[in-house]
Amino acid sequence: MSETFDPAWLALREPVDHRSRSAAAMSLLAPAWRAGSWTRVVDLGSGTGANLRYLTPRLPGIRHWTLVDRDGDLLARAPAPDGVEVKRLVGDLADAGLAAIRDSDVDLATGSALLDLVSRDWLRGLAEACRLFALTYDGTIQWTADGRRPADDPDDAFVRRAVNSHQRRDKGLGPALGPMAGLMAETLFREAGYRAWLLQSPWRLGPDDAALAQALVDGWESAAADELGDAPDDGADGDGAVRVRAWAERRRATIASGRFGLTVGHLDLLALPA
Ligand SMILES: C[S@@+](CC[C@H](N)C(=O)[O-])C[C@H]1O[C@@H](n2cnc3c(N)ncnc32)[C@H](O)[C@@H]1O
Repeated sequence: MSETFDPAWLALREPVDHRSRSAAAMSLLAPAWRAGSWTRVVDLGSGTGANLRYLTPRLPGIRHWTLVDRDGDLLARAPAPDGVEVKRLVGDLADAGLAAIRDSDVDLATGSALLDLVSRDWLRGLAEACRLFALTYDGTIQWTADGRRPADDPDDAFVRRAVNSHQRRDKGLGPALGPMAGLMAETLFREAGYRAWLLQSPWRLGPDDAALAQALVDGWESAAADELGDAPDDGADGDGAVRVRAWAERRRATIASGRFGLTVGHLDLLALPA
């Protein structure tokens, strides 16, 4: 089943993605980039080009980007910085993505917010050719009152379980790994002979990020309700979807109060040839 991504949603998350990225991953990648005199990057599942915007100023001498996505409208929004050749490849990652790595002279393969959508088999194919993968949701969600003290709702765990289970549905590349993707990727890349690092890059949201937090709650509400809609009645508290709706109302009120912290776990993976 394929999923489309709203450019407004991608724009809302991009600044938080960028500020959350692991500095350690970049400090490991940068010397390898310089030492190899690398110039060519292929980015998988590029959307509107978030990775291009993040990495171009950080990887000196970059000359060629190949952006791969099945959504040509998103790709058309990606910029082409001065002095950098940008090739947009509209196609399905099931074939075009891996072929783009295998068939072209690529130094670095990247992707962000992608690995949780893919299956173990696809990831194994990727592990033959790839170096940096950024920001994969790891299944953890923690609300706090002030950025430190936990402020749990009785149904946070209930909704999180439903969301994480929904994340594992097939997105077109086989059963999605969802929150398992980071660990699985680290294992498969090591098995393929890479040095691999799995580094924490959590989104830490506060009142200044209220629009993204609201969008997350809306998305979790709809994913969890969808997941529970197919499930049998979940017991004493009644219909699962009703419970999810009530949770979402409470969490929207938390955000509207202007005093909240929300940490959404993410991991950056860096894999370099041994
Ligand atoms: C969550 S978005 C991330 C976009 C971008 N990397 C970013 O960080 O903003 C996932 C992207 O992967 C693309 N995608 C998902 N599955 C795909 C597939 N099977 N083939 C090609 N593109 C795919 C979607 O169209 C979307 O642009």
